[in-house]
Amino acid sequence: MEELNLNQNLRWRQARVFSCKKRFIIVVAGRRWGKTRLALWWLVVNAFSGQNRLCYYIAPNYRQAKRIAWGVLKKLVPIGARCHTSEQELSIKLANGSVIELHGADRPDSLRGVGLDFVVLDEFASMDPDTWPVVVRPMLADRRGRALFIGTPRSYDHFYDLYMAAKLKEENWARFHCRTDEGGYVMANELATVKAEIGSKRFKQEFEASFETLQARVYHEFDRERNVMELELLPDAPVLVGMDFNINPMAAIVAQRAGEQIQVFDEIVLTNSNTPEMMREINRRYAGRHGVVHPDPSGVARKTSAPVGKTDFRIIEEAGWTVFPAKQYKVVDRINTVNAKLCNAQGQRRLLISPKCRNLIKALDGLTYKNGTKIPDKTSGLDHVTDALGYLLMGLFPTTGPNWGSTPVSV
Ligand SMILES: Nc1ncnc2c1ncn2[C@@H]1O[C@H](COP(=O)(O)OP(=O)(O)OP(=O)(O)O)[C@@H](O)[C@H]1O
Ligand SMILES: [Mg+2]
Repeated sequence: MEELNLNQNLRWRQARVFSCKKRFIIVVAGRRWGKTRLALWWLVVNAFSGQNRLCYYIAPNYRQAKRIAWGVLKKLVPIGARCHTSEQELSIKLANGSVIELHGADRPDSLRGVGLDFVVLDEFASMDPDTWPVVVRPMLADRRGRALFIGTPRSYDHFYDLYMAAKLKEENWARFHCRTDEGGYVMANELATVKAEIGSKRFKQEFEASFETLQARVYHEFDRERNVMELELLPDAPVLVGMDFNINPMAAIVAQRAGEQIQVFDEIVLTNSNTPEMMREINRRYAGRHGVVHPDPSGVARKTSAPVGKTDFRIIEEAGWTVFPAKQYKVVDRINTVNAKLCNAQGQRRLLISPKCRNLIKALDGLTYKNGTKIPDKTSGLDHVTDALGYLLMGLFPTTGPNWGSTPVSV
């Protein structure tokens, strides 16, 4: 049997990924960094290193798998080491019984029904978000299979979520970040030319593998690495609630002050709901605590999410909470205040958020302005929970007076 040529001259960073023994590996890398080649090599070596292993390479679609990976795979696996090659099935069976197959995520039915030992998801951002949790992850369960996710960022999408979540699960997960220039397969002068052609934002995404949105982000100071951390409810601190009255969803965030920090440790997002239901949920979670609710100030006489006859504010008071007497202000001030607390001019981050506030985190990352305007794009539905946060901060740090954005109000 012909031996596998292990001398693949992997670049330093490719080699680091390659030698990582974690069960799940995420590689976020720039264009032409060498992602596909590394991913296939990882699959091939794992197929060789045990008998009867089932190894899948998955591209976003079948045609892509055939076009970008089939030729490379055949070059990596010596003919003498193969026992069968099917051009039809895009599969290679090795003499040791292991099988390597290429698939497209666009045909999920061709994937189901088998247990896998190793899987590569190449250009993961271009796949349907359900591909991993619904289709591929269950296939790894019986054989305790391993997965390599690799790709160039697209935006704050499922690839980003997975990359960020992996940070908190270090026991099984490893993540790598690699710029194109670190791959060494694109010359520096070519990179400079491309940058001039496509602009720096797109260049950051495509070649520096940075998660970007190409539209302007509303909460541009939010940084998941720096504003998100584990938080605990202090025993005696008043509970502070920011609340957006909306039927679908009705949103509230729950916070406390800790020194100069505002710590958001919980969120409540209820679909098809109303104010009494929200107050019941708050009282259920925070039984015996007292605090202040900072509602949307425009809701002073509103009954939209309340049953007929009572205002939203009245319902909050009847549930045992104080309603903060907020004044009206401009939306732009609210957004500026949130950004200033996320990170001020001195680089201080005074607004911290618990990782369990998933809706809020997603919204702070993903809410953008409508193209070419300063109007937040509400079609995404991400704005309600960030509005709730804004109402709280505007109550605590009103934008009037000389110390705009920094004057605390006692609660
Ligand atoms: N270890 C290696 N040894 C030799 N050549 C390599 C190696 N890794 C990558 N290359 C070469 O670098 C080029 C880019 O590799 P590859 O297609 O794997 O990159 P990619 O990051 O998947 O690109 P894309 O962003 O277009 O999907 C190819 O020509 C490939 O042959
Ligand atoms: Mg590729």
